Amino acid sequence: MSFFEEHCPEMDRYLEDHASAEPEILRKLRRETFRKTTQPHMISGYQQGRLLAVLSKMMQPRNILEIGTFTGYATLCLAEGLAAGGKITTLDVNEELAYLPKKYFEQSEFAAQIDFKLMDARKFLGKTQEIFDLIFIDADKENYVEYFALGKDKLRRGGVMIFDNVLWYGKVLEDNPKQKSTQCIKALNDTVTADENFENVILPLRDGLHLIRKI
Ligand SMILES: C[S@@+](CC[C@H](N)C(=O)[O-])C[C@H]1O[C@@H](n2cnc3c(N)ncnc32)[C@H](O)[C@@H]1O
Repeated sequence: MSFFEEHCPEMDRYLEDHASAEPEILRKLRRETFRKTTQPHMISGYQQGRLLAVLSKMMQPRNILEIGTFTGYATLCLAEGLAAGGKITTLDVNEELAYLPKKYFEQSEFAAQIDFKLMDARKFLGKTQEIFDLIFIDADKENYVEYFALGKDKLRRGGVMIFDNVLWYGKVLEDNPKQKSTQCIKALNDTVTADENFENVILPLRDGLHLIRKI
């Protein structure tokens, strides 16, 4: 849930009213995610989805990697910007839920460009020889630092990595957080900021998106 959704629903509505319309397939997918899953708040949702689509359209990537498919909402948003002949690989480990993204990927105009793999992200990053233009990471927070370490060699120069939930509901402001996930997200934000090979900025949209460009 976003800060505005929780604390100022009027502003949240204003932001939605002033973003481009969500494609019909995404509207259906969002509704079905809320009906059929136990943690629907994990979905990127309207505003973040439109941001991912616009960023992808600006970059026109040929090769995208997404870590954490869930029901496939962000996958379809990112696919909107793919260059002709480009592809997006999306990874998840949740076999039970896989029927949902598969169903929507098949219906989508990007069906032929989406490679959905049920595979642990660390395993994939450890063995792939591919180089990506855009990497979106939205999975287990405890592994965020490792995803950055492994992902940075798989990103082309000028390519962009985006991490979701980097404000962790404001918990990154805690001095000595007890929660492991908060510690790991803080470690990621510090590691990225200290790395001279990257330029970075955190967008406070929703739960915070860390935009990281390889120099
Ligand atoms: C927040 S959800 C992703 C939301 C999705 N990107 C969206 O925007 O709708 C996180 C997903 O990461 C997946 N995940 C957790 N650990 C993973 C791992 N080691 N490798 C790949 N996926 C993982 C979970 O199963 C879950 O579906």
